[in-house]
Amino acid sequence: MESDILQFLPMPAFKPKLIEVALPLDAINKASAREKSIRHGHPSTLHLWWARRPLAACRAVLWASLVDDPSAHPDKFPTKEEQADERERLFKILEQLVVWKNSNDPDVLAEAKKEIERCFEGELPVVLDPFAGGGSIPLEAQRLGLKTLASDLNPVAVLINKAMLEIPPRFAGRPPVHPDAQNELGSWSKAQGLAADIKAYGTWMRYEAERRIGHLYPDATGPNGEQLTPIAWIWARTVKSPDPAWDGHVPLVKSWTLRKAKKGKPEVWVEPVIDRVAQAIDYKVNYGFAGGGKVVNALIQQ
Ligand SMILES: C[S@@+](CC[C@H](N)C(=O)[O-])C[C@H]1O[C@@H](n2cnc3c(N)ncnc32)[C@H](O)[C@@H]1O
Repeated sequence: MESDILQFLPMPAFKPKLIEVALPLDAINKASAREKSIRHGHPSTLHLWWARRPLAACRAVLWASLVDDPSAHPDKFPTKEEQADERERLFKILEQLVVWKNSNDPDVLAEAKKEIERCFEGELPVVLDPFAGGGSIPLEAQRLGLKTLASDLNPVAVLINKAMLEIPPRFAGRPPVHPDAQNELGSWSKAQGLAADIKAYGTWMRYEAERRIGHLYPDATGPNGEQLTPIAWIWARTVKSPDPAWDGHVPLVKSWTLRKAKKGKPEVWVEPVIDRVAQAIDYKVNYGFAGGGKVVNALIQQ
C-alpha cells in the first residue's frame, strides 16, 4: 500500500533558503529603482516589453532562493549569533551582486556562484520560467551560471528571449565575419564578435536603406534656414481629389495636432500650405499658443 511505503521513505531535511528568512531589501530596492534610468546595455533597449521586472530584483530573488539560510546548517552555525553573522556575510555578497555596474564583474559573479555551488553539492538546479516575458528571470539565471529554460505564449517575448539568451551564447568567443569588424579587436570574448557583426551589418543596412529610399525622407528646413533631420514622420493615406479644379491627390488626416498646449508648452500642429497654381501641397510645422502661431519649420511632402 502506498501510504505504508511512504511512511518508510526518509523525509528530506528542511533547509530554509535565505529568501525565506531575510533579505537586504533596501539595497535591492535601491538597485531596482536605479535601473529605471539605465539605457546602455539594458535589455529594455532591445525591445519594449511591458511588465518587465528589474534585473536587480530577479538576480536577488534567484540567488536568495538558491543559497541556504545559515539556520539550515546548525552544525556549522549552532548559535543565533553565529547564524546572524553568517547572514550578514551573505547580505554583503547580495548587496554587491545587485549593483548595476557589477552585473558583469567576474569577481562579484564568481563569489555569488561559489555560494550557490556550496549549497548544491554536485549538480546545480535548472531554472525554468514558463512565462518569461521580457526575459529578466532567465537572463539573471543564466548570469548566475545556471542552465535556463524560458518560454512564453507571446511570440514577441519568445523572440526577445532568443535574442538575449539563446543566440549570443552560440557565438561566444567567435570572431566576427564582417571583414571591417575583424580588424577591430585582437581577441573576441563572450559575444563581442557577434556584437561587432551586428554593428557592422547594421551600419551597412542603414546606409543602404538611405541610398535606396533616402530621397523619400528629405531634410527639413529650420526657422533660420538650417537643415534639420526629422526624427519622426506622420503617414497619411491620400485619395484622388474630388475637386475638378485639382488634378492631384489629397491627404486624409483626422487631426493636424502634433501636441496639445499644456503646462506652459505651446501647441504644435501641421499646417497644409496649398498652392492651387502649382497644384502642390507643402506642410509647415507651427507652434504657438491659441491665436498666436509661429512657423518654426517647413516639411516638404508631396
Ligand atoms: C508579467 S509577464 C512576465 C514578465 C517577465 N517576468 C519580465 O521580467 O519581463 C507574464 C507573461 O506571461 C505570458 N503568458 C500569459 N499566459 C501564458 C500562458 N498560458 N502560457 C505561456 N505564457 C503565458 C505573457 O505573454 C507574459 O509575457
